[in-house]
Parts: sequence; C-alpha cells; structure tokens
Amino acid sequence: MGKDVIIACDFASREQTMNFLDKFTDEKPFVKIGMELYYAEGPAIVKEIKARGHKIFLDLKLHDIPNTVKKAMNVLSNLDVDITNLHAAGTTAMMKAALEGLTRPDGTRPLLIAVTQLTSTDQESMERDLLIHEPIDEVVMHYAETAKNAGLDGIVCSPLEAGKVHGRCGEKFLTITPGVRFADGDVGDQKRVMTPAAAKEIGSDYIVVGRPITQAEDPVAAYRRCVAEFCD
Ligand code: C5P
Repeated sequence: MGKDVIIACDFASREQTMNFLDKFTDEKPFVKIGMELYYAEGPAIVKEIKARGHKIFLDLKLHDIPNTVKKAMNVLSNLDVDITNLHAAGTTAMMKAALEGLTRPDGTRPLLIAVTQLTSTDQESMERDLLIHEPIDEVVMHYAETAKNAGLDGIVCSPLEAGKVHGRCGEKFLTITPGVRFADGDVGDQKRVMTPAAAKEIGSDYIVVGRPITQAEDPVAAYRRCVAEFCD
C-alpha cells in the first residue's frame, strides 16, 4: 500500500454515509471511519463498507492499559480493517501489546499508526496540563521514534512535518496527513494546510481529506482532483 487519498467520512449516520458513497460508481475510495460514525453505527458499518469493496482506516485512537488495547485490537483486526491507530502516549508496552492483538493467526495484520500530540494541543496546554516542557515539535518527533521502535508502521501528522518524520524515522515509516486543502478552496477550521500536490512533493504517504471532498458540489470530481494531484 502507499500513496493514496483517504476520504474522511465524518458523517453521523449510515444513511448519510451510504448516500455519499453511492456517488462513487467507477472507483472505490479508501475511507476513514472515525469515532462519530463508529459509535453511532457500530461494527456493522465497517463490515458494510468493507463488503462494498473499500479499504478502511478505522480512526478510533485507542489509549488504555496494554491488555485492554491488545484485546480491543484483536476485535478490530477481525473486522478486516486496513489501517487503525492508537495514542503513542500509551507508551511502548501498550503499542507492542496492540501489535500482538492485531496480528492474525496467518501473520497478517492491519497497518498500525500512532497519533502523537493532537493538533488541538499547543505548547502552552501541553506544559500546563501534561507537564511536558520540551518544544512540541521535538515531542512529536520523539513520539514518532518511540512508535517506530515499538514496531508501528507510521504516524498521523501534518503534511508540513512529513519530511522531517521521514528524515528521523526513515522513508518507509508512513506519514498519514490530514489538513489538506485545494489551492483555491476553503481552509475551514484547519490552521496549517497544504495542497495535495505539495503533500506529494514533501513525501506524505497518504492524505486524509474530508470536507474538500464530502462538502464539494461534485464530490467525485473533487476526489479525482485529489488523486490526480497526489497519486499520479
Ligand atoms: O474535513 P477535513 O479535511 O478537515 O478532515 C480532516 C480529517 O482528519 C478529520 O476527520 C479530522 O478529524 C482528522 N484529523 C485532523 N487533524 C489531526 C488529526 C485528525 O484533521 N491532527
């Protein structure tokens, strides 16, 4: 796998999601299912989208004691998702347990990606609430290296950080990057954005694109534009 556009299906219900996916008749985009949709519809929504032929990034960001995460990951692995994730803040023992839980009897497993510091956390809140006093960029890179050393496949990060992550963790360590906008599009609430073409240039492996596709007048055309800029 690699170099693909993942559509963030941030919908509240199965009905809205299927109405959206029904627009795609010629292609089967990679789909990200997040907490809202998963908690609303449960594992059935994952099975249904998978059965329609889409690859799935299940974005549930697990963070608990190693044994609990291991068992939860085993359940997600049986759902046959392609990518899932956790918080690197759960530390190495949790990440290693997650990998064990994800690995199927035949040795295959979904890709496992770490979330580092959320983009909603800034230097001030990290110092005040978490008592972490290093520069936030360094904290993100340290989490990336810890995830790599635990055996994970990559991290979620800003496309602006993808080059640095590859420099520190190697070209094969995957960078999955949200915060993507067309040059002529609305930025919305994203603060640090990049176009699909620039994300390709800097070395993102996957871009996660939500509203520029889901809210577009013609979502299929917007998806194709992302693919043309990022993958071709
Ligand atoms: O609509 P938009 O393109 O901004 O959607 C981006 C997706 O990526 C959303 O599902 C959002 O929750 C997710 N995401 C993000 N920034 C992060 C981590 C995840 O935008 N740092």
